[in-house]
Amino acid sequence: MSGHVWLLPLKNIDDDARAVKLGEIALLERGEGQQKFVGEPLRMMLIALEEESRHPFAVDENGTAVGVLTLQAGAATLAGWPDDDTAWLLRGFLIDRRQQGNGLGTLAAEAAVREAAKLTAGLGSGQAGVVLSVNEGNPAGQAAYSKAGFEDRGQYLGGGSGPQRTMYRAF
Ligand SMILES: CC(C)(COP(=O)(O)OP(=O)(O)OC[C@H]1O[C@@H](n2cnc3c(N)ncnc32)[C@H](O)[C@@H]1OP(=O)(O)O)[C@@H](O)C(=O)NCCC(=O)NCCS
Repeated sequence: MSGHVWLLPLKNIDDDARAVKLGEIALLERGEGQQKFVGEPLRMMLIALEEESRHPFAVDENGTAVGVLTLQAGAATLAGWPDDDTAWLLRGFLIDRRQQGNGLGTLAAEAAVREAAKLTAGLGSGQAGVVLSVNEGNPAGQAAYSKAGFEDRGQYLGGGSGPQRTMYRAF
């Protein structure tokens, strides 16, 4: 198991650093069949950079991007949460196919909760935790999140790709 990942906030770095990081993100790959669970990484980051409510992060290990994730405010109902504003939505979570299964996803999900708590403290935006939805047919995702301390809050039938589990972790 690897020891450490660093979440690099793509909105809060200078243009040159962001361009380098986006170049690395463009090389990330999804595994076969994973297009169903997560979008194309570079595209997700470019969309998030344009939207005020979204905070895109590169998941870095040893200074190189090995994955991506996004925290979004005001959108928790997209994961089956009863309201939009009391939790951050964790979305667009990918660890590069060649790096999966080494514990990085668990570490990144834990780090995402810490970053979300920092965002809430800085913005005064009042969220109490992080919520996400994961496909019932995605055991690796469910395993990584539960190892990162997320608890199953039941089935969610919204979204277009089949039944999901709503998972939540308080700060
Ligand atoms: C989900 C994802 C982010 C997890 O990252 P990761 O680095 O592979 O996760 P980890 O190595 O920390 O942990 C994965 C856990 O799932 C388990 N796992 C992996 N593949 C599995 C499978 N097919 N069935 C059951 N468990 C599986 C691993 O064994 C591990 O648990 P363990 O340490 O107890 O053995 C990554 O697999 C990924 O990017 N998948 C494609 C996109 C995706 O599904 N994103 C999430 C959308 S909600």
